[in-house]
Amino acid sequence: MIRFSSSKLGMMVSFILILMWFCELSSIVGATNHVRITNQLSEGMDLTIHCKSKDNDLGVHQLAYNASFPWSFDDNALYNCHVEWLHGQTDFDAFDASGEQYRCSDCCWAARIDALYYVVCETGESNTWNKWTPRRTLSR
Ligand SMILES: *[C@@H]1O[C@H](CO)[C@@H](O)[C@H](O)[C@H]1NC(C)=O
Repeated sequence: MIRFSSSKLGMMVSFILILMWFCELSSIVGATNHVRITNQLSEGMDLTIHCKSKDNDLGVHQLAYNASFPWSFDDNALYNCHVEWLHGQTDFDAFDASGEQYRCSDCCWAARIDALYYVVCETGESNTWNKWTPRRTLSR
């Protein structure tokens, strides 16, 4: 039979309490991430988007001019998106927790005629992210 000395028992209890405290803390601090893609191309121009992480496919969505597609999630999954419109397409990581070039928990993206932009949600300050590449023909 295993017997615990009171000091060992005390250590185990404190260990469990610290573990519980960490779990509680991470559920409070565990910020929800928000990503938003907006069609800012031009009047009458649609944008098609398809975003997915390893475990979560958000499906294909068609955004009319000025429409946005927002989503939120609690984990730090990497989301990659394919976006395309009449005259171009590009692929990009819409959310990358280990991203070297940007870190955001609130990430905004805007598709404009000249390029895809990374936008600082709070200020609206935008930076060219990807230039459009010609659309591949879907039928061969
Ligand atoms: C699109 O959004 C811009 C910026 O908010 C606004 O100036 C413009 O009137 C909007 N156009 C349409 C058609 O909703």
